[in-house]
Amino acid sequence: MTVAQFIPQTYTETVAQGKVTWESPSNIALVKYWGKKKNQIPENPSISFTLNNCKTITTLTFEKKDDASDFDFEVYLDGEKKDDFKPKIETFFKRVESYVPFLKDYKFVVETQNTFPHSSGIASSASGMSAMALCLMSVEKQLVSEELSEEYFNQKASFLARLGSGSACRSLEGDLIVWGENEVVEGSSDLFGVKYPYAVHENFKEYQDTILLVDKGEKQVSSTVGHNLMFNHPYAQNRFAQAHDNLEKLKPILESGDLDAFISLIESEALTLHAMMMTSMPYFILMKPNTLEIINKIWAFRNETGAHIGFTLDAGANVHVLYPKQESEEILEFIKNELVAYCQNEQYICDQIGFGAKQVQ
Ligand code: DP6
Repeated sequence: MTVAQFIPQTYTETVAQGKVTWESPSNIALVKYWGKKKNQIPENPSISFTLNNCKTITTLTFEKKDDASDFDFEVYLDGEKKDDFKPKIETFFKRVESYVPFLKDYKFVVETQNTFPHSSGIASSASGMSAMALCLMSVEKQLVSEELSEEYFNQKASFLARLGSGSACRSLEGDLIVWGENEVVEGSSDLFGVKYPYAVHENFKEYQDTILLVDKGEKQVSSTVGHNLMFNHPYAQNRFAQAHDNLEKLKPILESGDLDAFISLIESEALTLHAMMMTSMPYFILMKPNTLEIINKIWAFRNETGAHIGFTLDAGANVHVLYPKQESEEILEFIKNELVAYCQNEQYICDQIGFGAKQVQ
């Protein structure tokens, strides 16, 4: 696939107005995307679990307008007008305009809501941008005469989502998605996410992710600033090579269900991501004291009980506690008794591996 394949032929159908709704989940990376080139091309491959409960629901209402000279849209979050979301969507529209050239022909109303609390420190860009991209594809589907295959629809939606936010291209399907060209996964691409095509052991079915909300404040470092820190970073090339290695190591782990090896790999990825931020210029520490308390408690509990509990982190202080469904009773008990006290207002979210976005009729 090349970029050109996502530029549509002329639109043949006339659609005066309409309304489409999609819900799309967040995802949590196991091998992290950190560092990008021009046009949202990742420096290294990443792989993520799609989540199930943390999602964005977006309705796009569109109405044909006479003057096609500029974008025209309004944004609402939970029914309230959100003008501060407009610049982000405007940037997204500019980036995708050549692939969905109907954008200036319509006036859009974007109505969006998240299932997770606002300012929970959980990024809504993956779920939000993927929901938005899917809505645009549903509009495009009405404008072309030929039937779009499900594969093309999903690929192009992932391609568009990536231009909104890199990790968003991994949210459309499930349960494991790979993004970034690599030697391990056949069919992998820098342009869109693909389903992980190899055997996955039963141990990973319904894998649990309990998200501990340690710090619900605004992100200290935006993802754009974060990715830019990898330019001229002294360890960048090693890190990018390591991501390829880790993806290769993950394949037999996913197949055999080796949970100890899985936990070592994901924890090392999480700490490496934070190590990159600590060793860049400027440097950042995005963990909070309670992030470290939680990590130490998880390690102690694992040593004492042998439970298969592990963690991963995004570019923030919150901790994603990952564990197999089979051990969830014991581990959730431990989380409630020992870890929740370190969360802001004792807030946490129980999620698990999911299967991607759905159109809402
Ligand atoms: C640490 O996808 O938010 O979560 O492409 O600039 O929107 P942009 O970045 P974004 O970066 C996510 C980085 C990460 C790791 C990951 O999800 O792979």
